[in-house]
Amino acid sequence: MERAVIKGRATLNGSVRVEGSKNAVLPILAASILADSPCIIKDVPSLDDVTCMCEVLRSLGGQANPSGPTTLELNGGGIKSTEAPYELVRRMRASFLVMGPLLAKLGRAKISLPGGCAIGARPIDLHLKGFELLGARIAMGDGFVKVSARGLVGNRIYLDFPSVGATENLMMAACLAEGTTFIENAAEEPEIIDLANFLSNMGAVLRGAGTKVIRIDGKKQLCGVEYTVIPDRIEAGTYLVAGAISGGNVLVENVVPEHLKPMIAKLRESGARVEEESATQVRVIGSRRPIAADIKTLPYPGFPTDMQAQMMALMCTAEGTSLVTETVFENRFMHVPEMKRMGAQIKIEGRSAIIRGVPRVWGAPVKATDLRAGAALLLLGLAADGVTDVTGVEHIDRGYSDIVGKIRALGADIKRV
Ligand code: UD1
Repeated sequence: MERAVIKGRATLNGSVRVEGSKNAVLPILAASILADSPCIIKDVPSLDDVTCMCEVLRSLGGQANPSGPTTLELNGGGIKSTEAPYELVRRMRASFLVMGPLLAKLGRAKISLPGGCAIGARPIDLHLKGFELLGARIAMGDGFVKVSARGLVGNRIYLDFPSVGATENLMMAACLAEGTTFIENAAEEPEIIDLANFLSNMGAVLRGAGTKVIRIDGKKQLCGVEYTVIPDRIEAGTYLVAGAISGGNVLVENVVPEHLKPMIAKLRESGARVEEESATQVRVIGSRRPIAADIKTLPYPGFPTDMQAQMMALMCTAEGTSLVTETVFENRFMHVPEMKRMGAQIKIEGRSAIIRGVPRVWGAPVKATDLRAGAALLLLGLAADGVTDVTGVEHIDRGYSDIVGKIRALGADIKRV
């Protein structure tokens, strides 16, 4: 089992480049199924989740081949199978995103149920309700969900919650449906806009992505295109916190500052200086000691749940008491017991965590239980006295390309063993 070993209290300095967005590229890879000709996707991050989605596409009969360090050539034209195996869906819930494209293009899909995962139950009821409204039949059994339709027909779909995955799955399905679909109370995340741009380039007709209502006018077929993925706002936010927590001076490059607004606002509130140096660069200069700040996670443009654990690491060493409220997932405080092992003073009350900032945390053996929780432990390790030994680094590899190497290049004493 691989570990990351950090000797804390180095001040980070220098610049770090952010990769293409994990949460944008995964639905884009799934959407390539809709095209009748090959797609070329650029700025693809080198991540385990991307490898997994490529395996899903191949298992269906499609092609997904690298043609450069960050470029993938995809061909969904040959896809004949409509069944995504348990082995892959179990590894990555986002495999479920192939359901909409398969249903729309081939009229059916059989996907293993994703089941529970570390950060909550994460049901798929909103995806399925939407498919039903587009005319699909749903059947469950043997751990699989089967959807089928003679031809999808556009409809009005109101989402009870602005689910990112459901919005994406339904957008993709509606692109090949007959007539017009409205997705109401849709998710507004930048990754939704990126998927809509990709689909539009393929010939789909979508309006309103990035707002609460998305209108899709169905087309008969879509064609392959070349597309560059947006930068990863969560990776960017993580390096901004790394700069702040170490009292350093870090330039984060290849970002869209607009996407970082909720994180930048909180970093400023906690005493860091954050400056937009250009349209693609943001600099963070950490204060001697952060100041407590309250955080409530919300769908975009609220504070992202995927940055909650990393910001909590910063709050652990802040002056004062912070209240962190998680409203998106019901079980996303698994980093808390690990942070407490490092001397953090945190109390969980239902969906909130009360963090009494301490001037010093210390290194300890800790376990990364999920992707962002793992990143947060690395960040707290940067601020800790002594050595932090993080196991479960494979969780972090799902969403960060060489985070250890990137933090080391900024001056951290960190290695993988
Ligand atoms: C995506 C992101 C993930 C991020 C999350 C919220 C990808 C690959 N993953 O996950 O990193 O943390 O958005 O920003 O893009 N829900 C239901 N029923 C459904 C679907 C969702 O109740 O059918 C609930 C979930 O349990 C959760 C909430 O809605 O509590 C948000 O989930 P959702 O927005 O769907 O997240 P994902 O798309 O899974």
